Amino acid sequence: MGRQVTGTLPRPLLGEPEIRRRVAELGREIGEDYRDCEELVCLGILKGSVFFLVDLVRELRVPVAVDFFQTASYGSATSPGEVLVKKDVDLSLRGRDVLLVEDIVDTGHTLNTVLAMLRLRRPRSLKLCTFLDKPSRREAEVPIDYIGFTIEDHFVVGYGLDHDERWRNLPYVGIVDV
Ligand code: IMP
Ligand code: MG
Repeated sequence: MGRQVTGTLPRPLLGEPEIRRRVAELGREIGEDYRDCEELVCLGILKGSVFFLVDLVRELRVPVAVDFFQTASYGSATSPGEVLVKKDVDLSLRGRDVLLVEDIVDTGHTLNTVLAMLRLRRPRSLKLCTFLDKPSRREAEVPIDYIGFTIEDHFVVGYGLDHDERWRNLPYVGIVDV
């Protein structure tokens, strides 16, 4: 009955304590950079970044507004970077300090397009924070301001990252063979 779980758990790459430590460190660094900021808009890209974002914002000692943005790609092979907006930002970004929060930067096509779209809203500042960076797969240049961990070319799941919607709730980051 049900799925057989034993023996099929993703191979650990980043453990829970390591993630917790790094997120706290990033929070301190970001908080320091924005110490004079009136309000920082932390904008998460659904759904993968949610887990990282809620942990990160709790480390910030600056006033924060949280919002979300969701995209879908049309299939990267035919139209890389052409993204469909599934859920737009609720808040106005004009004149505000915005920190875009992503789970992972892979080819970079999605982020590149999203950043260009957000710049049109005329924020006062726009920075990018990603939990993971997979630079070996990059096809489009993306200016990343804050990186949690840089990883090799593996397909990873957990701490928000999924494989066909599975494993997001895994408290650590693990490798799956795809
Ligand atoms: P890209 O940078 O435009 O290629 O797209 C990055 C998106 O692909 C991320 O937001 C993830 O949703 C997904 N993705 C890329 N690599 C992985 C991975 O290793 N595990 C889970 N999702 C991934
Ligand atoms: Mg994603």
